[in-house]
This record gives sequence, structure tokens and C-alpha cells, in this order.
Amino acid sequence: MKLHRLIDTAKALVADDKGLLAMDESNPTCNQRFAKLGIPQTEEMRRVYRALIVTTPGLSESISGAILYDETIRQRLKDGTPFATALADAGIIPGIKVDTGAKTMGGHPGEKITEGLDGLRERLVEYAEMGARFAKWRAVIGIGAGIPTPGCIEANAHALARYAALCQEAGLVPVVEPEVLMIGEHTLERCGEITEEVLHTVFHQLHKQGVMLEGVILKPNMVLPGSTCPQQETVDEVADATVGCLLRSVPAAIPGIAFLSGGQAAELASARLNAMNVRFESRLPWALAFSFARAIQQPALEIWQGQEANVLEAQVALRHRAECNRAARRGEYSAGMEDYLHAKPVGALG
Ligand code: 13P
Repeated sequence: MKLHRLIDTAKALVADDKGLLAMDESNPTCNQRFAKLGIPQTEEMRRVYRALIVTTPGLSESISGAILYDETIRQRLKDGTPFATALADAGIIPGIKVDTGAKTMGGHPGEKITEGLDGLRERLVEYAEMGARFAKWRAVIGIGAGIPTPGCIEANAHALARYAALCQEAGLVPVVEPEVLMIGEHTLERCGEITEEVLHTVFHQLHKQGVMLEGVILKPNMVLPGSTCPQQETVDEVADATVGCLLRSVPAAIPGIAFLSGGQAAELASARLNAMNVRFESRLPWALAFSFARAIQQPALEIWQGQEANVLEAQVALRHRAECNRAARRGEYSAGMEDYLHAKPVGALG
């Protein structure tokens, strides 16, 4: 029964051209984003902001699941409804980030290892009781002189596989996120080589740990040139490099691949996802979806600025970015869709 439920949840997360909304920034990350906009960095402001997201009308038309942070899954709307219940009532599957962060890795200068396996079995049971049906763990792989090392890739892949096995035991779908970072001067070609190596290692470890691939969602980076690389490839070139890499390294049993945005401009992330679906959709064994944080939230956060008066306008922007990405899944996104936001009267949510 558990296996069927896992498969059904995994399929539902990538069904109907929808995708995931990552709203699981840790407190330090959320605070950093607030600080840049002069928003007070308090638990209550984080709650108010997450309530803005959760109560956005019509969000479930484009969003299948939302990833919460430990603090957030314990918070409630003003009327006392827990966020996980509010999401489920709106038709959005609640999920939870369960790693405890990427820490400096011993013996590997400049590299990180993600922690959080200790006590994970018990935490997963608690999260499932709170309504979570899937979970996320992010490994971080940087590119630079002499890095990543095989030791860093293997340790992170091993942790991802142990986390994924525990999730499935608890009836939660693991969203397996090995992120090769965009920061750096490296070329697209090097990002492709590293991403392919990382994905092969991750799937080898998932296999060794007995993880059922039909009940897994992969959350990878797109194959991109480094953010400060002088050569920046076109949208179509990024689409081709990304899909080629995935076809060589991701088993067909996986129901869906949901990209992270990784700091790309929101419009660019949508355009690249769109190009992948336009050029390859009919030839792919898995759905190509999204699990964006910044590429969905950033415009809304900038509009909100911590002000109650801006909530409706911020919700319009949030819903709009979600709709753009749903269009990108269908291969129907165009830059023209972005004008909609300027044309739409403030507060005119349907
Ligand atoms: P971004 O889309 O902002 O990269 O965030 C996705 C995420 O969940 C990072 O763990």
C-alpha cells in the first residue's frame, strides 16, 4: 500500500503541467533575503510572508506541492489553521525540507557536506503526522579550481540516498536535490560534465540503498555556464545541454524532474524550461517540471517589502510567476507573458 501511495504522490507532484513551489528557505537564508529589502527579520514577519504565499488565490492552478521549512510547518494562519492544512485545503500537497544544512566538509577545503541524518527517522514520522507527503534534501556541489572532488560528490550522494530510503520508509516521497552551483567562471561544458558525474553517482547510491525510483522526484540544476563566465550560451543551447545530460544519467523509472532555479533571473529560468519542453517533450521518459524558490517568489517578495498594503499586489506577482512556469511546462511560455503583470490592475486577483 505504502509503495502505491508513494508512486501516486510522486506522479501527482508532476501532473497537469504543474510544479513545486520551494518556500523552505532556512531562517538565515530567509533573513538574508528580508535584510536586502529592509524587512524585519523576525519569526512573525517570516510567518506573515509565508501566510501571504499560502493564501494566494488560485495558486493551486499552477502549483502541485509546496516545500515548507521546519519553523513554517509549525506555524499557522491568523485564524489558527496550520500552514500544512491550509495548503492541503487549497489543493496543494505539503512537503518539508529535512536536511539541516550544507556544512564545511572535513578534509575538503572549499567543499560542503549536507547534514541531517541523525534522528531523521523520528523527524519524518513527526512531519508525516503534521501532513507532509514529501520531503526535500539539498546537497551543494561547487565548481572551482580542483573542486568538486570525488570524495565530496560521493559523500553527498550517499547522504542523499540514505535520506531517500528513510523517506520512503515513512511514506514520504523524497525530492532528491543535488545542486551543482552556478557561481563561478566555469563554462557550460564543465557544468555539464560535473552534473553528469554527480547524477551518475547519486543514482548509483540510490540503487545501493534500495530506493524505489518510481517514488522519487529528482531536483537538479540546469546545465548552465558559470555566472561570471564570459561566454553565456543561448536559451536553446542551455536546453540542449541540460536535456542531453539528463538523458545520459537519469533512469526512465523516475516520474519527474523538477529543476531548481539556482539564482537565474526568473524570466530566464522560465524561458529555459520552456525551450526544453518545446524541443524534447515528446521524446522524454520523465516530466520536466520546476521546483523554484527565487524564480517564483523573488518579484513578489520585492513588491511586498514587509507592508500589509502590498500583499494583494505581491500575490498577483507570485501567482503570475507560477503561471509562467506552468506555461513553460507546456512549451507555451513567451516573454510577452511578462507584460501581463504590468497590464493587470493591482489587487485584481481572480
Ligand atoms: P531556487 O529555485 O531559488 O534555487 O531554490 C530552490 C531550492 O529549493 C533550493 O534548495
